[in-house]
Amino acid sequence: MAGIFFPILINAQNTLEINFHEHIAPIIHKNCTPCHQPNKSGPFNLISFEDVAKRAKFIGKVTEIRYMPPFPADRKFQSYLNERGLTVGEITKIKLWIEGGMKEGVLKSTVGGVPINNPQSTESDLVKPDLVLRMNKPYPISGENLEDFRFFSLPSKTTKDEYITAIGFKAGNKKNVHHSRLMVDTTTNIRGIDGLSETDPKVFEFQKTVLKDEFLYGWVPGNDKISFPKGTGVKLNANSDFLLNMHYAPSPVPDIDQSEIQLYFAKDKIEREVRNFTLRENDISNKPFLIKAGQKATFFISKKIDKSMSLISVMPHMHLIGKTFRAFVITPDGEVVNLVKIDNWEFNWQMTYQFKKLLKIPAGSTFIVEGAYDNTAENPENPNNPPHDIGYGWGTKDEMLNLVLYYLDYKEGDEKIEQK
Ligand code: HEC
Repeated sequence: MAGIFFPILINAQNTLEINFHEHIAPIIHKNCTPCHQPNKSGPFNLISFEDVAKRAKFIGKVTEIRYMPPFPADRKFQSYLNERGLTVGEITKIKLWIEGGMKEGVLKSTVGGVPINNPQSTESDLVKPDLVLRMNKPYPISGENLEDFRFFSLPSKTTKDEYITAIGFKAGNKKNVHHSRLMVDTTTNIRGIDGLSETDPKVFEFQKTVLKDEFLYGWVPGNDKISFPKGTGVKLNANSDFLLNMHYAPSPVPDIDQSEIQLYFAKDKIEREVRNFTLRENDISNKPFLIKAGQKATFFISKKIDKSMSLISVMPHMHLIGKTFRAFVITPDGEVVNLVKIDNWEFNWQMTYQFKKLLKIPAGSTFIVEGAYDNTAENPENPNNPPHDIGYGWGTKDEMLNLVLYYLDYKEGDEKIEQK
């Protein structure tokens, strides 16, 4: 008998105490409201007791499986400035609150200094960008319920070289813009395209162009702008073109989008240049990069560097049939420096992971990247039914294996610098 009653008693005691305003609101306001409020990426508000109680079962589910807040990387592998996630204790509290009948409790006027029902803009929301590049004209999203991938060229028209200290992106259509990727072209070869479909044969020609930055910035809903450490910036050559790759989610009704890139430039001479380094398909050690229909395959990149670096961030990139991703560094002393590990690859949540502190990578280190793919019919993410052979390409149904790195040339003491 005791064995049966004991757990029930414990539950009863815990759930009795848990109420929204005292226990649940602080968790929601800190971890969910930044996106789930008007004019942010979340599809509905999670602010008031009613907002949360109405969707409590769903919230219990998405927090338990750690789908929300979205953060695909393993936080035990490495710590990041922009990491999100609930503790086991917080997930349990939400669960017990729901099981206990979602008690409201007493509304307090503030929670952690933030007025309830009135989420504040953050300070960084208020700083105005120096250059805003909008898509030339509104792009018509079709109402035929199809995924749609498009390229747009946005000439910067800058007359002198600038240094970018931060980059942001504002989706023109919150509902349908799924993610975007920003490249920089200094050749002007691609200038003039405006909504080119990624299935257009011209894309095949364009992807031969050597871009200055293949992946300046990747945006997913809820990604804030990326800011580089104080006194540093990415060089933007005068008259460069930005190439914007937009992914529109299927829409049952016609709609439009006119998204914009927001650039922040250094006002004074910068002390150090942020450099971009991308590990890519050419660096793969077990080529050819081809995933045969019906098969699973893992590819490895191994690349030795001959100068010391201070890493700012990493951004892993694969497409639809990617399953797991892992990257680390082996130093000449045989030490392992973890970069990023994703056990459950989510195409829709590709993020830039910015380290808490600059990460020193000594000269002579080797970067190792490992990407696993599943091109079988059993993979629900497989874009082809029946499966086709899949090789390299910019198209979403093609595959890629990249690790995009931002770094500074190493200087003594960098590893002590906290990023903000
Ligand atoms: C980084 C921004 C962001 C944060 C933080 C965030 N969400 Fe979301 N949430 C989204 C977006 C965008 C969607 C819609 C796209 C999707 O479902 O992936 C979403 C969808 C949802 C859904 C619907 C899921 C579905 O399958 O339709 C629920 C429920 C949800 N969020 C709850 C939460 C809760 C609870 C938290 C906090 C613990 C949270 N979210 C934190 C951005 C965010």
